[in-house]
Amino acid sequence: MTFYDEVGGHTTFDTIVRVFYREVAADPVLKPMYPEENLGPAADRLSMFLEQYWGGPTTYGEQRGHPRLRMRHMPFAVDPDARDRWLRCMRTALDEAELSPLHDATLWDYLERAAYAMVNTLPSPAASPGARQTLATRSNSQDSTENT
Ligand code: HEM
Repeated sequence: MTFYDEVGGHTTFDTIVRVFYREVAADPVLKPMYPEENLGPAADRLSMFLEQYWGGPTTYGEQRGHPRLRMRHMPFAVDPDARDRWLRCMRTALDEAELSPLHDATLWDYLERAAYAMVNTLPSPAASPGARQTLATRSNSQDSTENT
C-alpha cells in the first residue's frame, strides 16, 4: 500500500490541488505568475505530479517526461515571498483535506522542503529597503563583537 493509497488516492489529491488553486487564484502575487488565465491545466499538472510522486498513477511522466521541477520553475521569479504564499495556499489545502496527523506531517515536510528548494530569485533590495539595513546592522554588530 503506497502513501497515495493510504491517504485516499485520487479523491484526496484532487481535493488538495483544488483548494490550493482556489487560494492561488485569490493571491495577488501568485495569480499573475501563472502564464494561463485558466488555472485548470496547471492544476492538472500539479495533481498528476503529486500523485506520481506519492506512488499513484505515472500519468505525469507519460505526459510531461522527467519532472526537472527546478528547471521548469526558472521562467518564474520564485522569491521567498512567493514561496511563503505558495506554502500558505498549500497549508490551507492540507487543512481542508483533513489527513491523519502522520500523513499530514509527512506530506507537509516534503512540500516545505520542495518549496524552499524552488526559490530561484532573491528579494530585490529596492523592494525591501529593510534588507540592506539588516545586513549592515548585522555586520556592524559582528564587528563590535570582534572588537570586545
Ligand atoms: C515555491 C513556490 C512556487 C511557485 C511560485 C510555483 C509556481 C509555478 C508556476 C507559475 C508554474 C507554471 C504553471 C503551469 O504549469 O503552467 C508551476 C508549475 C509547476 N509547479 Fe510550481 N511553484 C512553486 C513550487 C512548487 C513546488 C514546491 C512543487 C512540487 C512539490 C511544484 C510543482 C509544480 C509542477 C509539477 C508544475 C508543472 C510542471 C510541468 O510543466 O510539468 N511547484 N509552478
